[in-house]
Amino acid sequence: MIRQITNLSLITSFFLLISCAGEKSAPQLSEFEIEHGIGPVTEEVQISDEIDPELADRGEQVFRGLCVMCHNEVDSSIAPSMKGILDNRSPEYVMNMILNPVGMSRRHPSRTNQQESYFTSMPFQSVSLDDARAIVEYFRLADSENP
Ligand code: HEC
Repeated sequence: MIRQITNLSLITSFFLLISCAGEKSAPQLSEFEIEHGIGPVTEEVQISDEIDPELADRGEQVFRGLCVMCHNEVDSSIAPSMKGILDNRSPEYVMNMILNPVGMSRRHPSRTNQQESYFTSMPFQSVSLDDARAIVEYFRLADSENP
């Protein structure tokens, strides 16, 4: 009897989950948000052609401290690799993902479509705007050294 009740509540919560997922209303995003992500970065970031090694070094330290535990050299079921990320995503998008991963996962169409593929979702780790910018510089340097 108890087992039946447990099963029933499991099934009910399953359907509840599905119906909640279906109820998400289509978010109204600006053109900037669709291309560059949703978050605190709302304007294009100035990036010069020359890579700033000091900034990249700072970015690497932050990345090794906070990100590498999930983001490895290769894609995994924990998280995608960051190799070549800037070929697919703009610097502003990458920064918004770092600074607002929860909002991005909930509302950005590029994320809501792929959510199921990973064990975890990306947490916000109190990274500052300047450190997010430094991480972008580190990605630029890493890709230029190892394309
Ligand atoms: C607990 C694991 C975890 C940590 C820590 C983490 N991430 Fe992620 N990250 C993910 C997962 C999972 C995804 C993909 C799924 C998603 O949308 O949430 C992701 C996605 C991303 C993306 C988008 C990739 C793409 O192809 O669009 C970027 C950029 C990113 N992470 C950068 C970072 C940076 C930089 C840090 C460190 C400040 C970091 N992540 C820390 C798990 C993590």
